[in-house]
Amino acid sequence: MKLLILGKNGQVGWELQRALQPLGNVLALDRYQDTKTQYCGDIANFDAIVQVLTQFRPNIVVNATAYTAVDKAETDLEQADLINHLAVKHLAEQCKTVNALLIHYSTDYVFDGLGQTAWQETDEKAPQNAYGHTKLAGEIALEQSQAKFINFRTSWVYGTHGNNFIKTMLKLAKSKDELNIIADQIGVPTGAALIADVTAQVIRYYLFNPHQHNDLHGHYHLAPQGETSWYDYAQLIFEQARQKGIELQIKRVEAIPTTAYPTPAKRPLNSRLNTQKLQQTFHIHLPEWQQGVEHAIAEMI
Ligand SMILES: NC(=O)c1ccc[n+]([C@@H]2O[C@H](COP(=O)([O-])OP(=O)(O)OC[C@H]3O[C@@H](n4cnc5c(N)ncnc54)[C@H](OP(=O)(O)O)[C@@H]3O)[C@@H](O)[C@H]2O)c1
Repeated sequence: MKLLILGKNGQVGWELQRALQPLGNVLALDRYQDTKTQYCGDIANFDAIVQVLTQFRPNIVVNATAYTAVDKAETDLEQADLINHLAVKHLAEQCKTVNALLIHYSTDYVFDGLGQTAWQETDEKAPQNAYGHTKLAGEIALEQSQAKFINFRTSWVYGTHGNNFIKTMLKLAKSKDELNIIADQIGVPTGAALIADVTAQVIRYYLFNPHQHNDLHGHYHLAPQGETSWYDYAQLIFEQARQKGIELQIKRVEAIPTTAYPTPAKRPLNSRLNTQKLQQTFHIHLPEWQQGVEHAIAEMI
């Protein structure tokens, strides 16, 4: 079994490098040429992608690359579309050619973010910002490629490797007395480690159930159990840091509405994801979101 990971140094890519090892021969690449194998994993370099797929011949390709700078994407649309859409389209077509399963990641930002119900896989898509549009275009390209694919939509990703909300909050809380944090956006913080571990479990299930393959391809929502706001999430981070002996300067945390913190890209108020399909199809147990956050903070500290 040969597995190719693209985007090995992203939050999810980093954890995939750990979690997929027991499944087979793993080749993990970033955008640069690998000094050992000479392969290059720049997803926007179409020749390089053809070369690694035709020569390494992976059975499974896991694409953890993405353009994730949500606000920057509003003014850098061409680059965001290249990475999140056109390169995904090309990758899917090449996976079809070499008959590899493509595992991909997307976001709750493909939905319009309205209402209070957790999004189901089949709900209508209506992205509210440029990043969401490019990610949806990538999903549509996957569907149209006729490649075998599994796409996990996830939300509010954090990891010990890379920048994210937890690290930003810890940094700010060490230097500021007061912080204003948005309290009306609701979602589920999802650990990169959980995403990678679930990916490994799904691959294992897929490999051991070849007769079910056609039923397994498609979109799945992947997030832990529960829900929170950025405000309550931040409170847990500060509480956990203090419990672990970290000295924080922060004295007051103010809950504010989204309207009080304008950003270039519009953010959805409702990022809840319904994960029933993932749990039932692959017999996966998803933990409460706090468990992963507490573990990650302990690791970061
Ligand atoms: N982060 C979130 O909150 C969030 C939420 C929902 C869904 N997701 C989705 O989850 C997946 C993983 O996200 P993440 O948080 O792990 O993202 P991340 O930490 O930003 O990692 C993305 C990786 O893609 C790489 N990359 C960008 N352009 C590339 C190219 N041309 N060729 C090769 N690699 C390239 C980046 O490398 P460089 O550092 O060299 O640019 C980076 O290592 C993505 O599909 C994302 O859309 C993320």
